[in-house]
This record gives sequence, C-alpha cells and structure tokens, in this order.
Amino acid sequence: MEIIILPTPADVGRVAADLIASVVRAKPAAVLGLATGSSPLDIYRSLAARVASGDLDVSEASGFALDEYVGIPLEHPESYASVIARDVVGPLGMDPARVRVPDGRAADIEAATADYDRAIAEAGGVDIQILGIGANGHIGFNEPTSSFSSRTRIKTLAPSTREANARFFDDPDDVPTHCLTQGLGTILEARHVVLVAQGAGKADAVAAAVEGPLSAMCPGSALQLHQHATVIVDEAAASRL
Ligand code: GLP
Repeated sequence: MEIIILPTPADVGRVAADLIASVVRAKPAAVLGLATGSSPLDIYRSLAARVASGDLDVSEASGFALDEYVGIPLEHPESYASVIARDVVGPLGMDPARVRVPDGRAADIEAATADYDRAIAEAGGVDIQILGIGANGHIGFNEPTSSFSSRTRIKTLAPSTREANARFFDDPDDVPTHCLTQGLGTILEARHVVLVAQGAGKADAVAAAVEGPLSAMCPGSALQLHQHATVIVDEAAASRL
C-alpha cells in the first residue's frame, strides 16, 4: 500500500486526479470506478478543470458507480444516479451511456446486482477505482462485518452511516435504510484502487484501514490485500498514522 500525505484537501484531490488522468491518457477507453460522498469531490473538480482547459478528454471512458440507495426515486437529487450525473458525468463530459449506477429500484435485486458485476467484468474490469472511507471504516457501502469476498448486493445501512448522510436530506427519517453496493470482493478486482480521505473525522478509520489488523469490522482494511492500492490523505486524516 502506498500512503501519500499532503497538506490540504485540495492537494489530495489534485494528486488523485493526476493518477486518474494518467490512466485515461494511456487508455482513453479506460473503465473508471466512481465514488460518491464528499471525499472525491475535489478529484472531480480537478478533472473537470483539466477537461475544460482541453488538457484531458474523458469522453471515451466508461464508469461504474460503487453504490446506490434503495427506496428513493431515481430523480431524487440525492440518488447516486443523480449525484453521479451532476458531479461527474456532466462536468467531466463523460458519455452518460457509458456510465452505470446500480439499480436501486430493480424489482429483482438479486438479478440486478449479479448483472452489475457481470457488466463490470464484460467491460474488462475497472482500471482505476476511486474510494472514500466512512468514519466507521466502510468503503462503498460495505458496512462493518461485510465479507472480504462479497459481491454487489443489498445491504442495510449502519445507523451511524444514516446519521452521517442525513446532511444530504431534508429530514433524517428520509435517509434510506438500504442500499446496493459493490462488494469488497468486487472492489478488490479493480486494477488500481485510490482511497482519499480528508479531515480529522476520518483519522481513526484511515489508521484502522492502513495499519490495523485485517478485519471485517473495518472494511477498508481489505485494501491491505490489494496489490496496487494508493491512499491519499491530508495531514488531519493522517494524524493517527
Ligand atoms: C458514503 C458513500 C461512500 C463514501 C462514504 C464517506 O455514504 N457511500 O462511498 O466513501 O460514505 O462519505 P464522505 O466522503 O461524504 O465522507
């Protein structure tokens, strides 16, 4: 695991964006693993600035989101389909037809999740996966106790995750109770994983993921099993390392 500690959140976004840009320059039809949440927003801003200046073209790349809520309409502004369209596909000029988000409204969830894993495999696998980390160590929505070999599936959100994400909803009761998420096993198949974290609130989770024992209680620790994992954090998020 490579750990890069940088002074500010903006530096984290820029350096992570450098990694993604170099993958896309080498392989314009790269498959990008896309994360939601606040952590990757500086990456997307940095990539969008390069696209706007003509320095980068992401139009041939495809993308797979990590996760999606179950139980809110697709057009809800906080569905991850909406977030990915607003924060990633539009600003980066990606082709919406090449970007997929798990279908949280599918009538047959099992079929939809199996189909999602199949689609990733058929696309040739993820070249570079962007990840944030929850304060409880979750990656994607793989909450503590998730199996390291799990595949894309439905999960119950931990109460602490629902509380953390209540900031995106008008009423805390509106936060969905369930989600679909790529499994830890799915995520570990990406050729390169890049985890970003900023702020003191992530310091314990970062330390547990990077230096703690391999444990299903800290899903981020699964990245210790990956051959090419890069963790990029600001000084506050690195303060417990
Ligand atoms: C979210 C997402 C994760 C994200 C994590 C941290 O709810 N499902 O992919 O990494 O929780 O969120 P944030 O980056 O907003 O702190």
